Amino acid sequence: RIVYLNGEYIPEEEAKVSIFDRGFVMGDAVYEVTAVIGGKLWDFEGHVKRLARSLNELEMQNPLSREELLEIHRELIARNPEFIDGGIYLQISRGNAGDRDFAFPPADVKPTVVLYTQAKNGLLDDPKAKKGIKVISVPDLRWHRRDIKTVQLLYPSLAKMAAKKAHVDDAWFVEDGFVTEGSSNNVYIVKNGKIITRPLSNDILHGITRAALLRYASEAQMTIEERPFTIEEAQAADEAFFTSASAFVTPVVEVDGKPVASGKPGPVAVRLREIYLEESA
Ligand code: PDD
Repeated sequence: RIVYLNGEYIPEEEAKVSIFDRGFVMGDAVYEVTAVIGGKLWDFEGHVKRLARSLNELEMQNPLSREELLEIHRELIARNPEFIDGGIYLQISRGNAGDRDFAFPPADVKPTVVLYTQAKNGLLDDPKAKKGIKVISVPDLRWHRRDIKTVQLLYPSLAKMAAKKAHVDDAWFVEDGFVTEGSSNNVYIVKNGKIITRPLSNDILHGITRAALLRYASEAQMTIEERPFTIEEAQAADEAFFTSASAFVTPVVEVDGKPVASGKPGPVAVRLREIYLEESA
């Protein structure tokens, strides 16, 4: 695989980053994952805008313009011909700041920019999209700026492991009695024809797939209610599903051991997945 590191396209074995890099030492880095289907980038503009916002919130330099980022994404697709479906991972850290220090380094320290392809062939036919997935709930113990897409993913990893140990697919975070989001996705329920999802705030990541989905749903005259919901509401819902750049729209059929409705993917989730895949193609 050919990867991008600080201006160079090199084989992955040669891509090395300093042990002093703040991404490594402090988790001081932001990231994006942009879907690629059939060699085509999806929702690129949304990801670039969110990246700029994450960098800005952390007072980090934005080292690359939209055009440069687009060029790098396209170049990685071109240089890795075996990569057809999956995602492009992008990470920008505050760079190599020398010895460990809590304070940010001077502004002339260059950010470390890494991009690489992550193939997931057969992504569109993922059997989980047909069968739906099962989730458990866990307390949301993350920090309170979940709107910034940082690489501080230890708690979401623990949540994912708790789900694995419980023989289910994912974990939903719960705070003050309400679901915030999934370990790496935004979540929704459907009740009496209404799509219910938590409104944007610092409590959740502002999903790019979420924005696209809500746009398509309202174009299709579906009713959207942006409000928090509980685990009990999800268990009593007609449907549940989640969205992310790596799994698009995926039905959720069980929450904390209870089936959602019939325990099969519902028509709204199935239809929205179809619309999303058609519109983005
Ligand atoms: N995760 N919420 C969280 C906590 C996420 O990590 C993600 C994305 C989303 C969905 O955002 P989007 O639709 O822009 O992908 C919501 C990525 C895919 C990841 O960490 O791999």
